[in-house]
Amino acid sequence: MKTIKSMALGMVAIASLAYACGGGGSSSSSSETTTSTSSSAPAASQSLEDKYKDDPVFVAGSSKAKEAGCTACHMVERKIVGPSYADVAAKYDNTPENVELLTSRVIKGNVGEWGEVPMPAHPHLDTDDVETIVKYVLLLKK
Ligand code: HEC
Repeated sequence: MKTIKSMALGMVAIASLAYACGGGGSSSSSSETTTSTSSSAPAASQSLEDKYKDDPVFVAGSSKAKEAGCTACHMVERKIVGPSYADVAAKYDNTPENVELLTSRVIKGNVGEWGEVPMPAHPHLDTDDVETIVKYVLLLKK
């Protein structure tokens, strides 16, 4: 009788462990799915995100851009409030001078380069982090 009782307790413990693992796993990976929203893109042309997604510059820069809130106004291939990153990459060569220039414009804010809508200053951001994002932006050439 004693052994049956402890076996039953053991089963309950195993079952609740399995439940805890399953629950924790699924909730932590839910944010991963938001990156692949290119269903409306024509099948023939590869998106820039697909083209560069394995590049370490892309990986580092895109997550920093999300953290810093750049994604509220910029998308990779579509103009929203600010120019698309692809348009910025087409306009500027990927040189150390341009990385420095654009990094300082992001930190100080800018207006007039793309139209009447200003980009606000981002004085709270770390210069290295902004550089990481700008290098990612300039990578996104077609
Ligand atoms: C509130 C909206 C907004 C946010 C947030 C924002 N931008 Fe912009 N961004 C703009 C607008 C508008 C322009 C065009 C400014 C202009 O015409 O000079 C722009 C322009 C740019 C340019 C091109 C500058 C040039 O001189 O050609 C870069 C690079 C850029 N943004 C990067 C970033 C990065 C990196 C972040 C995040 C740290 C960011 N932006 C956040 C609105 C925004």
